[in-house]
Amino acid sequence: MEELVGWSAEEGAIELLDVGCGTGTLASMLTAAEIEIRVTGLDLTPAMLREARGKRNGAEERKATFVAGDAEHLPFPDSRFDVVTCCNSFHHYPRQEHAVREMARVLRPGGRLAIVDGFRDNIVGWFVFDVCISAVEKWSVHHCTWRDMRGHFEQAGFQDVYQRKINWWLPLLLTVGRRNIENGRQPATETNR
Ligand SMILES: C[S@@+](CC[C@H](N)C(=O)[O-])C[C@H]1O[C@@H](n2cnc3c(N)ncnc32)[C@H](O)[C@@H]1O
Repeated sequence: MEELVGWSAEEGAIELLDVGCGTGTLASMLTAAEIEIRVTGLDLTPAMLREARGKRNGAEERKATFVAGDAEHLPFPDSRFDVVTCCNSFHHYPRQEHAVREMARVLRPGGRLAIVDGFRDNIVGWFVFDVCISAVEKWSVHHCTWRDMRGHFEQAGFQDVYQRKINWWLPLLLTVGRRNIENGRQPATETNR
């Protein structure tokens, strides 16, 4: 959130996509904040989207829209957004490298991606995310290591990547990168060659 306020102060109005938006918690915080922003929330689950839409008040309705979709196949044209966020949802994606490439595709050159997900590189995070959350989710989720998350960003062509741990009792990993400004192209990979 503090990152977003800083980016808005630097660059003005922000067109933001929140992938795996759930019930729209981040969208509510952002549209209530003193920043010029339009938020598109995307989620796979219709019940989440219904709740997100139901929570909006009049002013938020103009600033936030919610659409159904899959993180691995984003229903938006290239370079549509200034910022893409993804909070506590990334561990659900079966092909995480595809999701990051899709996020890069819909960002304008120079746009920023911020992913927050469980930090599992210390004993607390390992127990919370790799043991407890994974068991609750019937071992169908995958929390990236710090290094793997950075690798996904770099392989998708992000620059100026930085990472930091947030919280100690429920540790989260924030990873931020900027889409390549020079040519806006993503590096060739096995799947997009
Ligand atoms: C734990 S919730 C987090 C919601 C919200 N971002 C938050 O922080 O409160 C995870 C969300 O990811 C969504 N999700 C899971 N797989 C997805 C996918 N492939 N594409 C888009 N959303 C997905 C789920 O429907 C769920 O709403």
